[in-house]
Amino acid sequence: MNPFKIGRAYSPESFVDRVDEYCDLLEGVKSGNNVVVIAPRRFGKTWFLQKFSVESGFSCLYVDLFGVYSVRGLVNTLVEQIFEILRRKDLMAFFVNYLKNLPFSIQFNLGFVGVSFSKEVDNEMLLGGLYELLNRVQRELNERLVIVLDEFQAYKNVHKNLAESLRSYIQSAENVGFVFSGSFKHMLEQLFFENSGILYHSCLKVDLNPLLPEDDCVEYLVRQFGRTGKVISPDLAKEVYTKTKGHPYYLQLFGYELWSRTQAEVDFEDVEDAFNNIVEKESYNYDILVETLGYKYVKNALKLVAEQSGELFSSGTLEGYDIPNSSALSKVLRKLSEYGIVEKLGRGRYEIVDPVFEEYARKRFSN
Ligand SMILES: Nc1ncnc2c1ncn2[C@@H]1O[C@H](COP(=O)(O)OP(=O)(O)OP(=O)(O)O)[C@@H](O)[C@H]1O
Ligand SMILES: [Mg+2]
Repeated sequence: MNPFKIGRAYSPESFVDRVDEYCDLLEGVKSGNNVVVIAPRRFGKTWFLQKFSVESGFSCLYVDLFGVYSVRGLVNTLVEQIFEILRRKDLMAFFVNYLKNLPFSIQFNLGFVGVSFSKEVDNEMLLGGLYELLNRVQRELNERLVIVLDEFQAYKNVHKNLAESLRSYIQSAENVGFVFSGSFKHMLEQLFFENSGILYHSCLKVDLNPLLPEDDCVEYLVRQFGRTGKVISPDLAKEVYTKTKGHPYYLQLFGYELWSRTQAEVDFEDVEDAFNNIVEKESYNYDILVETLGYKYVKNALKLVAEQSGELFSSGTLEGYDIPNSSALSKVLRKLSEYGIVEKLGRGRYEIVDPVFEEYARKRFSN
């Protein structure tokens, strides 16, 4: 079976590094703080949070807000998980004895749990009831309870004032902590770290920004091939690393492609073909993304950033990519960084965050 894993479900045997970040998260939660984990798309936030939920020893409730469209949905998801935790800890009497006087009613039988809502109850009352439930569960567990909210940038799907509501709850909650996560850097930083942000001063920050380290990735590739009866030499594993730069998603995807096209031992051509294949497959999505962005000079700017590693704003460079002046370039780059597509490395120096997008930009647009 192909040993490389892609998808939302965390796989402990496929998890590489993140040792320092994990320590930071653990320390943050242990010290009674709330934490926010920010990283670009596909950098491994969900796996990281799931690892924490499963392995930290804390009782955790994990919610991906992207898939929750209402306060009722949020209550449902949390109640189901509370039920599981209490069942595991043999605290089921809690459900019978303590779940009265909430603005929703919880029924359970034969191992299933369901919540019913009466029409008169509004969202604010439901949230109030949910917080009361969390407090009671925490007291019953008699340990810190951690709520992990993934894709937090989508909180308005649940309720437009969810952030305000959480702020008041967080201030009063005694032993209930939160871990927030998301990829919209600008929005989340504004929310959590700027004076005007609704959740300002509520959290410590853990950056999952760095790509994975070379040694760990090479060792991981060699090990995964080796344990399934195939071989990749450390040199070719390094080549895979160079192409993916240690981007977690592409490390797995590249491994997956390469493993499935290899009979016994990987050769150089396999590496090239697998990478081209990945770029090809992703191109369709990137085309759509670039069209959706729709700014003037966006293609020129992407190609420029993909190809040039030095100062981008010199007049010779701008001319080479048909960009009329440096303010036009600044404008596009600002937009692209807001979307998390490019990142500023230093004065006048930028890079495309996603290594496959970078290769795509190099190949797709001609100047
Ligand atoms: N630490 C890791 N080691 C190896 N592979 C990883 C690691 N973290 C994530 N991955 C791989 O990257 C993929 C994407 O990870 P994940 O879904 O956690 O990213 P994400 O940041 O939550 O993405 P999104 O912003 O799209 O929600 C996973 O399916 C897995 O294949
Ligand atoms: Mg995710």
